[in-house]
Amino acid sequence: MPHLIGIDVGTSSTKTVLINAAGEVIFTLAPEYDFETPRPGWAECDPQNWWRAVLTAIRAMLEQSGVGADDIAGIGLTGQMHGMVLLDAQGEVLRPCIMWNDQRTGVQCAALTEKVGADKVLELTGNPVLPGFTAPKILWVRDNEPDVFAKTAKVLLPKDYIRYRLSGVYATEVSDASGTGLLNVRRRDWSDEMLAACGIPRSWMADVAESIEVTATVSEEAAALTGLRTGTPIVGGGGDQAAQAVGCGIVREGIVSATFGTSGVVFAHSEKYRAEPQGRLHAFCAAVPGQWHLMGVMLSAAGSYQWYRNQLAAHEQEEAKRQDVDVYRILDTQAASVAPGCEGLLFLPYLSGERTPYADPDARGVFFGLSLRHGRSHLVRAVLEGVTYGMKDSLELMRALGIVPAQVVASGGGAKSPLWRTLMADVFNVPIVTNNASEGAAYGAAILAGVGTGVYADVVSACERTLKVTSETTPENPGVYADFYPHYRGLYADLKERFRAVARTVEKHLG
Ligand code: XUL
Repeated sequence: MPHLIGIDVGTSSTKTVLINAAGEVIFTLAPEYDFETPRPGWAECDPQNWWRAVLTAIRAMLEQSGVGADDIAGIGLTGQMHGMVLLDAQGEVLRPCIMWNDQRTGVQCAALTEKVGADKVLELTGNPVLPGFTAPKILWVRDNEPDVFAKTAKVLLPKDYIRYRLSGVYATEVSDASGTGLLNVRRRDWSDEMLAACGIPRSWMADVAESIEVTATVSEEAAALTGLRTGTPIVGGGGDQAAQAVGCGIVREGIVSATFGTSGVVFAHSEKYRAEPQGRLHAFCAAVPGQWHLMGVMLSAAGSYQWYRNQLAAHEQEEAKRQDVDVYRILDTQAASVAPGCEGLLFLPYLSGERTPYADPDARGVFFGLSLRHGRSHLVRAVLEGVTYGMKDSLELMRALGIVPAQVVASGGGAKSPLWRTLMADVFNVPIVTNNASEGAAYGAAILAGVGTGVYADVVSACERTLKVTSETTPENPGVYADFYPHYRGLYADLKERFRAVARTVEKHLG
């Protein structure tokens, strides 16, 4: 039986997954590493860490899984998006990768936006130039490390550096390239205008393939190091969100996912190119050939619930230990005892500022509308409702672009809670389903490898073959939330200027 490998070059670990053609996970290993924060707001990682993790995992996989190198039909790569790996003309890494969560490029973003024009940037790339994107990072190196810039011959995204180490080939694919600020997302190729505006030669950029295309094969040198067969095909793969979407079956128009992790991601597949007119949603190429996706990112989703647990639920944590149960289930029970709408108590979940829909680093968390009747259970429920309203903000931007979700596939820690799933169904006013996908982006990359090597006919049928629905929750009581949601929306507008003013005052006193 053919087997497939998916490799996810993550922020703090690189996960390698081996699946068989039926989609069963045979082996998984995720060696960890640290990334550096040389200054506040900076995030860097030595690409050798990723390569070492890949070598460790593939060798262990071939030793322990019982699957031989000859049974591996293909490899799919995925990973953290937006990172910048610079290589010299000999293919040597010039400096640590500047990662997706690095915020140092405010000056370069403003200068590039000014030079090209905000509307033109949106027209060319589907997105504004954001500090995490790759293009402003290259400009930062030009401005601050001219020696490195002068030696640069290639710019690679993190997973594409692993492709280079496995094959000696410089290649990328459309979904990850979408997060560079240099791709014409509509045309699925590098934008000559954006490259020219940045002064980046096209020869620095790897060739762009579709996610399922075979872009390279394992070299003799990498085969000797890993135990893989020389010539094993490597498909394009995808950025982590695009590959995760394949892993969760978000591959057809009308299917939307909501991932309630520390951060929250609302992701919609789109058969045609759509961009949010103000760039509030990311508009990226999908891993499904010739199609796209839209994405909203909320910074504190289940992270808000975690904050509540850590800061305000010491008693419940002790109780959970005593009963040997998950503290979140105790908090869920408290939340369930309160009527929907929390008798007017609202929570704004902007504990670390917000990306979608406001892109506002100064926004902060708020409990609004407290009265003497409100107790701890109301606070818990208000947190869950506020986070769900925040995710609805992204969903509404998608609806305004003509995306009509027939259902929302929920995943992440928040989706484990039946109460929260009911809340999602009511607040979004669509059925919420969960499925058996558990290995995320690496699993999606393995599926893409299967499509590219003929194990599966296409991405949609591959997902149908490997994924099963595990729960479905239909809306029961959407009306209350429809009445409170405009108040939630209005609160940010009311407080926006105050958030900004308070942030300046905090800066003045804390430095
Ligand atoms: C996507 C994004 C993250 C990173 C790291 O836009 O910022 O998903 O790719 O996981």
